Amino acid sequence: MKAIISSKYGGPETLEIQEVATPEPKPDEVLVKVCAASINFGNIVLLRGKPAVARLVYGLRKPKYPIPGGDISGIVEAVGNKVTAFNIGDEVYGDLSSSGWGAFAEYVTVPEKAIAHKPSNLSFEEAAAVPMAGVSALQAIRKVGKDIAGHKVLIQGASGGVGTFALQIAKSYGAEVTAVVSTRNVTNAYELGADHVIDYKKEKLNSHAQLYDLIIGVNGSHSISTYKHILTTNGIVVYIGGSNSQLYETMLFGPLVSITGKKKIYPFMQQANQQDLVLMKELIEAGKVRPFIDRRYSLREVPEAFTYFEEGHSQGKVVISIP
Ligand SMILES: NC(=O)c1ccc[n+]([C@@H]2O[C@H](COP(=O)([O-])OP(=O)(O)OC[C@H]3O[C@@H](n4cnc5c(N)ncnc54)[C@H](OP(=O)(O)O)[C@@H]3O)[C@@H](O)[C@H]2O)c1
Repeated sequence: MKAIISSKYGGPETLEIQEVATPEPKPDEVLVKVCAASINFGNIVLLRGKPAVARLVYGLRKPKYPIPGGDISGIVEAVGNKVTAFNIGDEVYGDLSSSGWGAFAEYVTVPEKAIAHKPSNLSFEEAAAVPMAGVSALQAIRKVGKDIAGHKVLIQGASGGVGTFALQIAKSYGAEVTAVVSTRNVTNAYELGADHVIDYKKEKLNSHAQLYDLIIGVNGSHSISTYKHILTTNGIVVYIGGSNSQLYETMLFGPLVSITGKKKIYPFMQQANQQDLVLMKELIEAGKVRPFIDRRYSLREVPEAFTYFEEGHSQGKVVISIP
């Protein structure tokens, strides 16, 4: 089979397409013929081996997982003899970031717990756009641990892979959503369901005198003190991403703010989870959420796809088509 191989840490230019042996499933695994895959920030960490602490997991000197790629959609081609939930021919999707990666290839073996049946109303490309970004958004909103219906929710950075899902999931849970995006993404934010949009190129976050019950920080950085000023008395910030400095501030001072006052500041770490893939499938099939694809690349073009994604301005998801 053809696969993208990462033999050393570095930029997209280190990636090569090669012919390698098609893997065989272990008893608890399925062999998936990959139809599409997608890129997330975790792929960049695996590609570059940065931050250095990631090498403890991904390999000290060179990548332990030579075929990158986390999100897949595809068709089950073979099943191990202990697999119970999937049959040959099933259409599936999943996040392989906790189970050996390997999505940027024509075939991949995956533990059955890493995948779920694909949403029936999505193409393979659309389905591959969902797993990590969609589940991150879902888990971040659920971390709040309460019903957000009727609550005022701010999505800081609502135009990328995670942000477009966070906006739609918050809306599907009945929240009043304000999306923070740049000028070119304003129309799309309204189309995805935002009640209000702040164009960060033209307005300041606090120029509306509006308070929020929940702030989901996805892209774009604001300090804890800026967020505290626009939170309601019992308001919560969940920090998914944006910048390293804000991540460190949230990890260091978030617990202090949360313990000493009513406002809560939470860091967040996504965990690949089969049940959440099933939940995303239900939201998608109910017509409440849909993936938003920015660009499509072929397997051979994975390095170009990485270069584009790393620029940090994709509008929705960057997908790899493997017909
Ligand atoms: N904690 C976790 O477990 C976890 C899981 C997944 C992702 N993440 C993190 O979440 C973040 C988002 O990931 P992603 O895959 O969604 O990224 P992405 O798709 O690359 O996000 C790109 C989008 O962000 C927008 N953007 C850039 N600067 C902005 C700003 N200052 N304010 C508002 N929007 C801005 C860009 O549009 P414009 O340039 O036009 O504004 C673009 O549409 C990353 O930092 C990633 O590391 C964390």
